[in-house]
Amino acid sequence: MKATALAHPNIALAKYWGKRGDGHNLPAVPSLSVTLAGMRTRTTVEFVEGLAADELRLQGAVAAVGRVADLLDRVRRMAGVPLRARVDSTNDFPTSSGLASSASAFAALALAATRAAGLSLEPAALSDLARRSSVSSARSVFGGFVALRAGRAGDDALSAEVVAAADHLDLRVVVAVTHEGSKAVGSSEGMRHTVLTSPYFAAWVAHAPSLYARLREALLRGDLEALGVAAEESALAMHASAIAAAPGLLYWSSATVAALEQVRALRARGLAAWATIDAGPHVKVLTTSSDEPRVIAAMEQVPGVLRTIATRPGDGARLDEDPAA
Ligand code: DP6
Repeated sequence: MKATALAHPNIALAKYWGKRGDGHNLPAVPSLSVTLAGMRTRTTVEFVEGLAADELRLQGAVAAVGRVADLLDRVRRMAGVPLRARVDSTNDFPTSSGLASSASAFAALALAATRAAGLSLEPAALSDLARRSSVSSARSVFGGFVALRAGRAGDDALSAEVVAAADHLDLRVVVAVTHEGSKAVGSSEGMRHTVLTSPYFAAWVAHAPSLYARLREALLRGDLEALGVAAEESALAMHASAIAAAPGLLYWSSATVAALEQVRALRARGLAAWATIDAGPHVKVLTTSSDEPRVIAAMEQVPGVLRTIATRPGDGARLDEDPAA
């Protein structure tokens, strides 16, 4: 009744921002991401006889069970297991800071919880289970380049799917970390506020499918430049919708803007460098393996950039056969 799983965060190249209004945690727009080796969540779930309530430890500290208990309830119903669980989860990167920790967290949790309950789900079913808790986590179940279509009326299940393998493109993602603490407004809350108050949300929903289609085509033909251009546009359009909310939702700090300017300066010098930004102040730079060292050096020069994390396309969620290591 115990299992440990590993999962990586993913970064959306074509962003998901906003849910459909029908309460099934369905995305309003299609998204396309890359799962990132170089950052990792490890989660152990144990269903325990006699435990009165689910227990969660995050980075070693007791935490509120919240959305974790909802996922465990679904697994208990599927498996016919009545027991409460002990969950222990650690990230080797900053938690709740716009580094997509909920994506790797719920992908690892879905796999560990189902296995601990004696279930062996197909990847699509696992992705759907994770998606019900956090949309972006549906994508971290898979490795490489992963798509999730927009939800449609009447959808019950919705799973992500692989578009291309991790080695399909010579891509590196350099994360320029600008802040080590938690972010002020989580993505679920931030997108809810955007949906409810931003006059630009409808424009974002209308525009996002064409960005997604351009990005997907660029990926399939191996055109990193077209992919980078579309990814930067997607991130800026998503943030424009959030910034136009009332009150405006600004995830950026001065370091974010300085990092974005540096990316554009690198590009003007002929380097492969395109920026994407999630619900936090960090800037992630898309580049190639040959330009990566110069991109890292340049991003570390930016005032307010604390450090960089070098990542590359990686694998999907998997069981950890050696949890003590
Ligand atoms: C900006 O998947 O964390 O990272 O579905 O409410 O859990 P919930 O939101 P979440 O949002 C991710 C938003 C994003 C863009 C993306 O990953 O597509």
